[in-house]
Amino acid sequence: MKVLLLGSGGREHALAWKMAQSPKLEKLYIAPGNAGTSAVGENINIKVTDFEAIKTFALERNIDMIVVGPEDPLVEGIYDFFQEDIATRDIAIIGPTKQAAQLEGSKEFAKEFMQRHNIPTARYKSVTKETLEEGLAFLETLPAPYVLKADGLCAGKGVLILPTLEDAKFELNAMLSGMFGDASATVVIEEFLSGIECSVFVLTDGEHYKVLPVAKDYKRIGEGDTGLNTGGMGSVTPVPFADEVYMEKVRTRIIEPTINGLIEEEILYKGFIFLGLIKVNGEPMVIEYNVRMGDPETESVMLRTKGDLVELLQAVHTGELDTMTFEEDTRSAASVILVSGGYPEAYDKGFPITGLDKAAQTDSIIFHAGTAMKDGKVVTAGGRVIAISSYGNNREEALAKCYKVAQMIEFEKKYYRTDIGFDL
Ligand code: AMP
Ligand code: GLY
Repeated sequence: MKVLLLGSGGREHALAWKMAQSPKLEKLYIAPGNAGTSAVGENINIKVTDFEAIKTFALERNIDMIVVGPEDPLVEGIYDFFQEDIATRDIAIIGPTKQAAQLEGSKEFAKEFMQRHNIPTARYKSVTKETLEEGLAFLETLPAPYVLKADGLCAGKGVLILPTLEDAKFELNAMLSGMFGDASATVVIEEFLSGIECSVFVLTDGEHYKVLPVAKDYKRIGEGDTGLNTGGMGSVTPVPFADEVYMEKVRTRIIEPTINGLIEEEILYKGFIFLGLIKVNGEPMVIEYNVRMGDPETESVMLRTKGDLVELLQAVHTGELDTMTFEEDTRSAASVILVSGGYPEAYDKGFPITGLDKAAQTDSIIFHAGTAMKDGKVVTAGGRVIAISSYGNNREEALAKCYKVAQMIEFEKKYYRTDIGFDL
């Protein structure tokens, strides 16, 4: 198999690392990739949303499968783009159709889908400028705090949680007046749910499914889950509260209704479904759907995903996922992210990264997120720079290994959270 993986973050390095272990893999390209992915495959300088360039490359190199890392190309319809052309129709695209990608691309679409299929989620109302009055009235029926979500993609920034009714009303107005551009022309107002969150990843061929190891990510910049939201500061798997009883509820009340709902509505879905779940009084509810793997969850989940990922993805394409056995590694895994000082606000790039050689001699796995090569050296090139992933006999051991390596890798203004997993 010749595989093209789209993306450039820690998630993609982890997926590339896993696929590179497959005997079925003949050649792996990553577009655009980062300094780390170039060690497991060949980086290609193509943007993930440049479908024409991806198509030309895929035809030139006889690509058999395209694995889509981030959401943007999926929401923009890469699956349909390849299906519509007879020349590219046979290339396996791992990722949902444009319509199915609306589960992430439109919060309103996702809420309506859940409502149609009785999937537990927060009560909500979807409003536009024209229906602002109804939105304000709905807010008055809710207790504080208030949750406002821009309908469209906002790179993880489109959710506001407001402490008072006054703030909520003000921000609702601001969002509808273009705070996030077109993405907030429609706003979903939600009831606030109180509970603990986890990330459940489902791989589906549109009919059958496998549940990947459950993970928890840590989104806030500060210790104790304080400060601004980031792309993610670390992750752990497994998640103790996502026990057998809980996961049975997740399967019967959320995963199966989701897959059956897609089938009923004739929406084709071959790829990863990421369920952002919250446990409220013991019961799972959906906070959000994403149509891809999570980052930084992938950097720990891939460690515990046993078997041949390329083979699994092939079965997704052919609709034979039911014939595959799937096992989780019984060990724990964790991932700690080293970020650029200042992130998620303004930060500097281009600092040399040292200590990677020393880190490579440990049994931790170093995934690159925002890195690049400059004059033969690895330098920082993003907010999230390195994901250090480790196995352990338990979570504490896995985290301790990550933290040991976190001290070996250096770059100017390095920052990381020292309390990943603190709440479990
Ligand atoms: P999202 O961008 O949809 O992942 O939302 C960001 C974060 O906001 C989630 O991970 C939750 O922590 C929080 N959140 C979203 N919706 C709700 C809700 N209805 N109740 C409580 N917290 C929420
Ligand atoms: N870790 C959350 C996300 O990937 O959206």
